[in-house]
Amino acid sequence: MRKILLCLFSKESGIVPRTLKPSTPRTLEPVVYMNPKDRIILALDVPDYDAAVEIVHKFRDNIGIFKVGSELFTSAGPRIVKQIHLMGRKVFLDLKFHDIPNTAAAAAAAVARLGVFMFNVHALGGFEMMKEAAEAIRTISLKENLERPRLIGVTVLTSIDQTALQDELGIGLRMSAMVRHLAGLAQRAGLDGVVASPVDAENIRAHFGKDFLIVTPGIRPSWASAGDQKRILTPGEALRRGADFLVIGRAITAQPDPIGALERIEGEIRGL
Ligand code: C5P
Repeated sequence: MRKILLCLFSKESGIVPRTLKPSTPRTLEPVVYMNPKDRIILALDVPDYDAAVEIVHKFRDNIGIFKVGSELFTSAGPRIVKQIHLMGRKVFLDLKFHDIPNTAAAAAAAVARLGVFMFNVHALGGFEMMKEAAEAIRTISLKENLERPRLIGVTVLTSIDQTALQDELGIGLRMSAMVRHLAGLAQRAGLDGVVASPVDAENIRAHFGKDFLIVTPGIRPSWASAGDQKRILTPGEALRRGADFLVIGRAITAQPDPIGALERIEGEIRGL
């Protein structure tokens, strides 16, 4: 059970400060998260701005962090991030950068200026790419007096299984060894944590310590269908194995009663 998480800003206010007073320390303060709602990140996998705002509006009392991914960001742009912040909620910007170090670092600096809580790069982009992206957000945050977003590395997508890893990507390692390798690379490059399948959370927690963030998509309660996800676990099991945050999309949004589905999940993880 891990309730001590790192948080960028006051949980009471729920507001994302864009800049800090000069005297405010820029270190990421530990905050005790007591509420299951603070551990669920709702994926806004919708095509446009209006659909996303409708979901944020519907869930704003129940969810603290919303995930903006490539579909929504490509159609709606930074405007949707600003709107979620105006609605008093945090953003995990899930754009999974994977490029040459110079380009990834420049993109990371642009993300820092958006004031998001967390964003990610593919660990498969390599050590230099991750290191330069991490340095870019540290530098820009200091220089422009911004809150530094958390940067996490995607290890192996939850839709890739052992067969795809080997036959499609040509990687001969076992999945657990590959995930551990990429998580280690991310930690050495100065990232705050990783995105990984909940199946791998225990392995990562055991090797990389309690302060390394583990964000797990591939969450499926026993009553929801797997869809395209392969390495999945229930919300309770993911937290028991060491996940800090659960990214959940269709298991909530595709249900006939989405708020009811969220409440069922909250019931399952309460006390963990
Ligand atoms: O609907 P579902 O719960 O499967 O949605 C999972 C979300 O998490 C999607 O937005 C997907 O892009 C994202 N994600 C993932 N695997 C990763 C990183 C992000 O499924 N490794």
